[in-house]
Amino acid sequence: MKYEKEINRRKTFAIISHPDAGKTTLTEKFLLFGGAIQTAGAVKSNKIKKHATSDFMEIERQRGISVATSVMTFEYKDFLINLLDTPGHKDFAEDTYRTLTAVDSVVLVVDSVNGVEDQTRRLIEVCRMRDTPVIVFINKMDRDGKNRFDLLEEIEKELKLTLHPMTFPINSGKDFKGVYNLREKNLVLFTPGTRADSESVVIEDLTDPVLDKKLGEKDAETLREDVELIEGVYGDLDTEAYLAGQVAPVFFGSAVNNFGVKEMLDTFIDIAPVPRDRNTTLREVSAGEDKFSGFVFKIHANLDPKHRDRIAFLRVCSGKFERNKYYKHVRLDKDLRFSNPYSFMARSKDIIEDAYPGDVVGLFDTGNFKIGDTLTEGEKFYFTGIPSFSPEIFKELVNKDPMKTKQMEKGIAQLTDEGVAQLFTQYGGTKKIIGCVGELQFEVIQYRLLQEYGAAVEFRTLPFYKACWLSCNDGKMLADFMRFKQQNTGEDKDGNPVYLAQSEWFLNTEISNNPDIHFAFSSEVI
Ligand code: G4P
Repeated sequence: MKYEKEINRRKTFAIISHPDAGKTTLTEKFLLFGGAIQTAGAVKSNKIKKHATSDFMEIERQRGISVATSVMTFEYKDFLINLLDTPGHKDFAEDTYRTLTAVDSVVLVVDSVNGVEDQTRRLIEVCRMRDTPVIVFINKMDRDGKNRFDLLEEIEKELKLTLHPMTFPINSGKDFKGVYNLREKNLVLFTPGTRADSESVVIEDLTDPVLDKKLGEKDAETLREDVELIEGVYGDLDTEAYLAGQVAPVFFGSAVNNFGVKEMLDTFIDIAPVPRDRNTTLREVSAGEDKFSGFVFKIHANLDPKHRDRIAFLRVCSGKFERNKYYKHVRLDKDLRFSNPYSFMARSKDIIEDAYPGDVVGLFDTGNFKIGDTLTEGEKFYFTGIPSFSPEIFKELVNKDPMKTKQMEKGIAQLTDEGVAQLFTQYGGTKKIIGCVGELQFEVIQYRLLQEYGAAVEFRTLPFYKACWLSCNDGKMLADFMRFKQQNTGEDKDGNPVYLAQSEWFLNTEISNNPDIHFAFSSEVI
């Protein structure tokens, strides 16, 4: 393998969580360990605070932050780690789902007080679709949380994950005394307010009286019982099962106190996958191949409204990406080269000369890219499995200024290329339907169409609740269905037929009345 050394030192992952579970705090601790930042508080939360929902300055500020922290690269123990940021706000969940296609593993943060929350479920579903390996960090152990065994059971049941505890806590809240590292067989003691260096005591044998001295007799006894139980049930971690996405190692800690984080990071670099092989429409592409290939998983509009430049985020999947070299843009069948690709560091953007599998490169784009686009050294294929989920809110796009129709069309095409929203056209007509996951996205679209394209628009609420992508072996049957149901059918942006359902009842009725037509709740962009 030509680039073996580079590939084997890279780990590309994302931290995911329900908002407020501690993703930003944990990210910051990782960066501190990696030396990428020096002070706490350097990583800004990309949360959009609830009260700021219609505060556009806030949205713009967030866009600025999310470009700056999109990809954070740091080194830790000779490994090069790419941490891909995901938006916290649920209205931008699609962006998160797409980012998950560009990582090789994830760390899931669960709040020990709130347990499994809504967004956690959906995020894990996306991970499951791709068998992405997951490590779980149970955070906020310094707060009075749920019973640790109940929590493990809740996570296993609710997220359909098989867990494997790697550390185990001694109490929680004000009685939290630390964690026992089951792998290293040492006790890491918690003192509130300690930062990087916690006191750790090696305990080879749990009967060692030093345990009673450190924890007190009662807690020492409970820990002995807990550990016996856990070791009996779980045994050693099966790394292969973790890599196959079947078993999730679990750590307990407190991100804000930087407690339990190092234990996880050390295990992470030990077991997390290096850049993996990926499926394409043609064949499996191995990360170790000599020839370069990569795909665009995110597009970000530049912040300067006077320039329409955008940044396309390209995940390198195989070979070596080089500055100023021509690559094939498969969809456009065009050779392109990039004179100033940049890498994302925590704080600054640097022009890069080359990049390897696992890396993310920022490419300036004037409208050539959309999500899912593939670059290669000539071969024609697309990476598969980049999902597009059904929106949940649908509105008709109404042009308020007919003189600006062209600008509006261009704007909406570009915004949907960026993945801000999905665009559907109603059957046989020109009615444009915008589908989003959250209300906030409509505000973003309206604001950006006006600011960036000078087009004033309004939205008219439509009574749909889901879009299903249709397929059928019998073309005529599908065409007839589309025609009969024209109030509820249309095309997505790429011309794929969709059914827009008013309610679950209508949807189920159509599904059972049309057994030969397949209704899919997500489509692959490619
Ligand atoms: P998010 O990115 O997942 O949305 O969460 P974030 O890290 O912003 O954390 C949410 C809140 O939880 C923050 O408090 C943060 O300080 C707190 N937090 C994170 N880890 C722990 C922990 O281990 N224990 C406790 N007790 N709290 C923790 P905040 O008040 O919302 O913000 P801030 O003003 O403290 O920044």
